[in-house]
Amino acid sequence: MKNLINKANQVLMHTYNSIPVTFISGNGCYVRDSEGKEYLDFLAGIAVNSLGYNHPGFNKAVETQLKAIIHYSNLFYNRQQIELAEKLVKNSHFDKAFFCNSGTEAVESALKLAKKYGKIFNKGAWKIVAMKNSFHGRTTGSLSLTGQMKYQDSFLPLLPGISFADFNDFESLTGKIDSETCAVILEPIQGEGGIYPAEKEYLKKIRDLCTKKNIALIFDEVQCGTGRTGKLFAHEHYNVVPDIVCLAKGLGGGLPIGAVLSTEKFNIFKPGDHASTFGGNPLVCSGALSVLHELIDKNLLEHVVKVSRHLKKRLTVLQNNYPSVVSVRGIGLMMGIELNIDAGKIVSNCREKGLLLATAGGSVIRFVPPFIVTEKEIDTAIDIIDSVL
Ligand SMILES: Cc1ncc(COP(=O)(O)O)c(C=O)c1O
Repeated sequence: MKNLINKANQVLMHTYNSIPVTFISGNGCYVRDSEGKEYLDFLAGIAVNSLGYNHPGFNKAVETQLKAIIHYSNLFYNRQQIELAEKLVKNSHFDKAFFCNSGTEAVESALKLAKKYGKIFNKGAWKIVAMKNSFHGRTTGSLSLTGQMKYQDSFLPLLPGISFADFNDFESLTGKIDSETCAVILEPIQGEGGIYPAEKEYLKKIRDLCTKKNIALIFDEVQCGTGRTGKLFAHEHYNVVPDIVCLAKGLGGGLPIGAVLSTEKFNIFKPGDHASTFGGNPLVCSGALSVLHELIDKNLLEHVVKVSRHLKKRLTVLQNNYPSVVSVRGIGLMMGIELNIDAGKIVSNCREKGLLLATAGGSVIRFVPPFIVTEKEIDTAIDIIDSVL
């Protein structure tokens, strides 16, 4: 491990304060490190490995595609990409899809769609309202929308015309909108910011306002989408449909894919407006199709609903037993507990005891296990946290 760390320090840019552990294999909800230690994984590569590890259906789909063809350019038709778009469109209120490789790229794509829409259909409107405490990615467009100064600070000035409203505060939002606003973007459940779900009435009011003012409503469901909440899209819990939704993370089950979906009204890209060399290649699409097959056709969504009730119940018991647990928040398998003690220390102590977790927003511990997690594994995880607390 020491050699690996030394080498990393020599050759990698220091963008992460990495933990001195390296994983070499995984099975189900467990991963194994280079020392042979096993961990129950409630982090899932930060809400990515939706089917866990070594999933037979996923492996078979990806292996078959790997042997057939991995990549070809979007200059040609690609059956897996078309099937993936069809599956997403058939199971949503959206009409069209564009594929890229990550969450931040999905947000960039949404940003461009909204800007083009404002230019053509809303008298040149170009400004965007995002939320304080949000997280949308690290490229300069998505970073410009990320309402946390700690991420933006070194890179200012970023894109002009972006303002930040208080999350879950409709008046704060209306105060930021003017005749030049082309879009509002938000996460239905703020993830990195600390697992804060939007309130139902709030999203409904925003939907009405955006419709009335011809403003694009963009939901960033990179973290909370693709089944994590027990529905395919987080906005289904709210009965509110955005104009554009961004997906990534869990969609590829570990393969790098991002997607932006829009209604027909926002189907305004023309050839040359937007593209991605790797976006939606046959390999990543075969993985994403397998994830959707499990979620939709093999009822994994129902499983998520069932086990997430158990997770919530057990987290609530923790809250009742420990004054250090001040709140339990989230939907489905995207849960957080807010602590009034050092959350980072609890996470590292849990890791020592074989449970992987991460913090969110400083004082919150985030629970985003693979969708295949069982009630028994939830019990094991909670027992570990209980002992650490
Ligand atoms: C809500 C949200 N949007 C965008 C991103 C950026 O995704 P990526 O790291 O794949 O670029 C993240 C990553 O954590 C996210 O949580």
